[in-house]
Amino acid sequence: MKKDAIGDSLSRVDGRLKVTGGAKYSGEYKVPNLTYGVLVSATIASGTVTALDTRAAERAPGVLAVITPFNAPKVPGYQAGAERPVRGLKLFNDNKIYFNSQPIALVVADTFERATYAACLVKATYNTEPFETDFHKNIDKGVTPQKGNYKDYVRGEANAYKNAPVVVEEEYLLPTEVHNPMELHVTTAFWDGDDKVTLYTKSQGVKGSQRSIAAAFGLNPDNVQINSRFVGGAFGSSLRTWPHEIAAAQAAKLVKRPVKLTLTREQMFTQVGYRPLTIQKIGLGATADGKLIGITHESHSQTAVYEEFTEGAVNVSQFLYNSPNVNTLYKVVPLNVGVPAPMRGPGEATGSFALESALDELSYKLNLDPIELRLRNYTDTDPERNKPWSSKYLKECYQKGAEAIGWADRKAQPGANKEGEWLVGYGIGCGAFGAYRGNAVAKIKLTADGSVNIQSATSDIGPGTGTSMVLIAADTLGIPADKITFELGNSAFPNAPTQGGSATVSSVGSAVHDVCVALKQKLYIMAGKPADSMEPIDYVAVLKQNNMPSVELTQESKGNPEAQKYSMYSFSAHFAKVHVHPLTGQVKIKKIVACVDAGKIVNHKTASSQMIGGAVGGVGMAMTEEAVFDNRYGRYINGNFADYHVPVNADIQQIEAIFIDKPDPVLNPVGTKGIGEISLIGVAPALANAIYNATGKRVRELPITPDKLI
Ligand code: MOS
Repeated sequence: MKKDAIGDSLSRVDGRLKVTGGAKYSGEYKVPNLTYGVLVSATIASGTVTALDTRAAERAPGVLAVITPFNAPKVPGYQAGAERPVRGLKLFNDNKIYFNSQPIALVVADTFERATYAACLVKATYNTEPFETDFHKNIDKGVTPQKGNYKDYVRGEANAYKNAPVVVEEEYLLPTEVHNPMELHVTTAFWDGDDKVTLYTKSQGVKGSQRSIAAAFGLNPDNVQINSRFVGGAFGSSLRTWPHEIAAAQAAKLVKRPVKLTLTREQMFTQVGYRPLTIQKIGLGATADGKLIGITHESHSQTAVYEEFTEGAVNVSQFLYNSPNVNTLYKVVPLNVGVPAPMRGPGEATGSFALESALDELSYKLNLDPIELRLRNYTDTDPERNKPWSSKYLKECYQKGAEAIGWADRKAQPGANKEGEWLVGYGIGCGAFGAYRGNAVAKIKLTADGSVNIQSATSDIGPGTGTSMVLIAADTLGIPADKITFELGNSAFPNAPTQGGSATVSSVGSAVHDVCVALKQKLYIMAGKPADSMEPIDYVAVLKQNNMPSVELTQESKGNPEAQKYSMYSFSAHFAKVHVHPLTGQVKIKKIVACVDAGKIVNHKTASSQMIGGAVGGVGMAMTEEAVFDNRYGRYINGNFADYHVPVNADIQQIEAIFIDKPDPVLNPVGTKGIGEISLIGVAPALANAIYNATGKRVRELPITPDKLI
C-alpha cells in the first residue's frame, strides 16, 4: 500500500487533541460574561399551562431572567406569515403542551447551579387535557404520512405471499431507542448588536444551522455564525436545529449576555429525537425451492402530534430481493410524545430487522441455508426502479463474511451446536443504504513553505472526516499527509451539506478531490506545462518562480448527471456468532463480522473504526436499548444512563470489518458509496438470527433480554 494515498490507514489528524482534552466541544468555550440557561419541563402530557409563578425563581440569587410563554420575546420565524416559518415545536410561542417534559420556561442565571436551583422554584398551573402515549392502544389511528406525497408501494399483486406454497407471516417490534451520545446537546449563543448572532452548538451541519437560526430571527444568514468544530457523538440527533438552540439565542438577546444552554441527560430523551417505536408485519411467500413469490411489509411507527416524522422503514423490501410481487404500507401514529429523528441507519435499520428476521424464519421453513436462500433471490438489477446498480458486490459480501465468521461450523438444527454448556449459533443479516452525493465547495491554499490548507463547512460527528479529507488531498496532490490541514465545523467556510445520510466523503470528498485537481492544473500552467500533464513537478518551486507567497482556489463539486441512469446503494452482510446459556439466557456475542460493499474505502483505519462503532450501536439495538413509557403519565421511566442500557466494553468481544473495496464507477470521482448507516443496518437481525440458531427461540420484540430466552 502506497503511503498517504487513498486506501491507506492514516491515524486521526485530530486524535491527539481528542485524547489529551485539547479538542474543544461546544460546551467548553469560555465566552466572557457567560450566563447559564436551564429549561423547566412540563409535568403533564397534554393541555395548556395557564399560569407560571416565577416570583421565587426571579428573586433567587444570580437569576437574570425567567422566560415563559407569557413574557418571551417573539421569535419572528415562529409567527404566522413569516417568510420561512421554522418547523417543529415553537418553544414559548404559546402556552400549549403537546408532550410531557416539553419545556415551559427557561431560567437564565450567572452560574449553572443557580440556574438549576431557580428552575425548580418555577411553579406551573395547568389545564390538563386527555392525552395518548400508548402506541399499542392507538395503532389503529395510524395515518398515511402527509409529507412528500407519500404513496404506498405495489409491484405486481398485493399480498401475493398469502397464496404461496411456503408462507411466513409475523410481526416484529422495535422499541423506542434514544441516541444518547456521550456529549450533551449544548448551545452557547451571543449577539453583536441586534442583528448578528454567534452560536457554539452541537451540529451535524453548520450551514443548515446557519439557515435555521437566520430564518428564526429574520436575519441575513451572513450575520449568523455557527461553530461546531468537534462533536461528541451525534448520529441523527444533530441533523436539525432544535427549539432549545433557538431558545438559547432568544435568551441571549434578552439578557444581552452570552447564554449557554445545556440539556440534562433526562431532557436528551425528549428534546432531540429518537428512533421511534415501530411495529412491522412481514409476509413472505416462496416456492418450495426458495424463490420469493411475494413480499408484504407493513410498518406503523409513532410520531408527535405537533410534527410528523417519517423514515424509510419499508424501503429495503422494495428492492433488496427479487420478487415479482411486493407491496408495502407505512403509517405513522401521532401521540403526545416528542418528535422522533433519524437515528443511525434510520428506517432502513428498523426495516431490515423485520425483513431479515422473516427471511431467516423462511429459511428454516424451507430447510435451506440462509445464505443460499438469499442467493436464490439475488437481483442483478434494481427491481423497484428497473435500473442497473452503479455497483453491487453483495454476493462477495456473503462469501467473505461467511468465511470470516466460520459459517461452515454452523449447524442448521437449532440447539444442535454446543461448546461446553453454552449453545452456539450463527446468523446473517443484510442491508442496503442509498449512496448519495450533494453539492459541496472546498477552498484550498498552498503556501510557499509547502503546506496546504483546505476548508469546507462540513462537520465531523466522529467518523474522522478531516482525516479522510487529508488523505484524499494527499493522494490527489501527491504530497505527504502531514503537510495538509483540513478545517471544518465553521459556517463561514465554503458551503457543504449537513453530515448525514452517509454522504460526506462522497460530497465533500469530491470537492476536496476537485479543488486539488484544479490547484494542480493551475500550477502546471504556471510552470508552463499542459494542465493535464502527469509529470511530477515541485509545487513550491513553481510558487517561488512566480514570486508568489501562496496560491488559493475555491471549487464547487456537483453530482454526476450520469448517476440518474443507475440505482446507487451501499450493501452489507453482517454475521454474528453467539453463545447463549440455556439456563440463564445470557448471550455472549463472540464475534460480529461486517462485510461491506461501500465502494472505495478512503481510510481503512477510520473506516474500520466506524464499522465497529456502528456494530456496537446495532448490539444496543438488538440486546439492550429500550426507552420505556409509563402511559399513566406519558413519561419515560428510564430517562437516564443507569436504566437505559447501552453496550459497554464487556458486551463486545470481537468485531471485524471487511471491505470489498471496489470503487463505484458512477457516484463520485473517488469511487466511494458511504458506510455511516450501513454499519448498523443488519446487525440486529444477524444477532436475532444467531440467537435463534443457538436456541430455537425466535425473539421478534427487541431488545433480546435474557428473560426472553428462558
Ligand atoms: Mo445520519 S441518521 O443521517 O446522522
